[in-house]
Amino acid sequence: MPGSMHFRWGKRRPQSYTYSPYFPGLQYNRALKVFLGGNFWDSRSTGYKLSSPDAEQAQHPPVDPNEHGFPDTACIAYRLSHAEYRPLFELVWGEGSFDITWPADTEAICSTPEGAAVLNGSRNALHQHLTGSSGSPASDAGAMPVALGRDNRTKADNVFDHWGQALEAFEASANVSAFSSKFDAFLAGTYTLTADEQAGYDLFRGKGNCNSCHLDGRGTALKSGQTDTSAAPGGAPLFTCFGSANEGLPRNPNIPFYYETKPDAFDYTPNPAGFGFKDLGLGLFLRSLSGNNPNADWIQYAPSVDGQMQVSSARNAAMTPPNCPNFQKAFFHNGYVKSLKELVHFYNTRDVFAYPVQSGHCPAGTIEKVTCWPEPEVKNNIDMTQGNLGLTDHEEDLIVTFLGTLTDGFTTPYPDADKYTGNCLPPTALSPPPPPVSAAPFPPGLTPPPL
Ligand code: HEC
Repeated sequence: MPGSMHFRWGKRRPQSYTYSPYFPGLQYNRALKVFLGGNFWDSRSTGYKLSSPDAEQAQHPPVDPNEHGFPDTACIAYRLSHAEYRPLFELVWGEGSFDITWPADTEAICSTPEGAAVLNGSRNALHQHLTGSSGSPASDAGAMPVALGRDNRTKADNVFDHWGQALEAFEASANVSAFSSKFDAFLAGTYTLTADEQAGYDLFRGKGNCNSCHLDGRGTALKSGQTDTSAAPGGAPLFTCFGSANEGLPRNPNIPFYYETKPDAFDYTPNPAGFGFKDLGLGLFLRSLSGNNPNADWIQYAPSVDGQMQVSSARNAAMTPPNCPNFQKAFFHNGYVKSLKELVHFYNTRDVFAYPVQSGHCPAGTIEKVTCWPEPEVKNNIDMTQGNLGLTDHEEDLIVTFLGTLTDGFTTPYPDADKYTGNCLPPTALSPPPPPVSAAPFPPGLTPPPL
């Protein structure tokens, strides 16, 4: 997705924020040797300051040079002070919230995107890493361009924090995190899964082993012949374990970020490293290269988590705007995968059809994403519980069918589900679906999976 400056694009696909308020603060579990919690693909919203990773998540995009692009966090307080809903904010957070004396050039500064040369470049940590520049210290509030004195700066910071908390409250409400899927009704005993949905569910928590990361809150039935009759404690599983894993996604060369190597009209170059940028995910953050790691003790674990991305909730993965039937979704952190069928096929055959090539260069006789998976962007710490599941083409389809039961809006209509205002693709703009796996030729020298 492009940012407010439409010629700038971010490095990752925006993560889905349904259920994000339910993620706990980032912690390192010394016994399990894993990081759990936080928000964002790389968990960089830790909850360290506001005790809510989701409230802190809301604070990043506004000052990301490739997203909303404000050059100063105070610009959020400044814009809110002119918003029509300012009285609602004051009702909750206090009438004096906006008693801030703004310098005369505030509007001019806030209308200039983060990173502009006239504002002395970028304080964004990743950008400083990619350029090797020192600039002003990354995310150092004291170096922000709006010249507020100590007391006004404190008030602007408080507005920024309260605004993040307000967004978190909204995202935790039934407007966003509704627990109204078929699966919730199934747990409540008011809906019976169809035969295919049930078969897909059995594979999800059995042969597919998806349930070991995308937790359904119930027992497991991993071995064939096991039957699980356990209930889901709490009744509302989130289909994530809050952990992170490197699923070995190939690089997606279509991400515009790779090509933003020249200065824009503000003399800002989003990614001078071009394809030199390697997305280490959680490892990038622990080294403070994509946000400030607040815990020096965590730095030592960076090599053990390089390439890891947060385990998304599988809830609403299948959701598309009902008024836009051909809506093109993208999946995983870099959007390389374009359908849930492709996603399950990837988990199923990543290691079976592995080739040491980049996307676009699969060998003759293979079909990318069908019988050829380009090499992982980050080869360290790859999750080996996935990659060769031995699922048949039909079993893949059943898991996709099951994922459809996790879409909210079944028991009560999803509020505003039909309010998507972007451009809908006409049916002709869609490329034809890839041929079924069973019909595709197997490359020489590779054993086909047991079908
Ligand atoms: C070892 C943990 C693990 C297992 C097992 C696992 N996943 Fe995931 N899942 C992840 C991680 C990590 C991501 C995000 C990866 C990324 O973007 O690089 C993810 C993302 C997803 C998403 C969300 C994609 C999106 O962009 O919204 C879906 C849906 C999903 N997995 C389904 C499955 C299914 C189906 C299975 C079983 C075949 C499975 N997962 C097994 C860890 C796991």
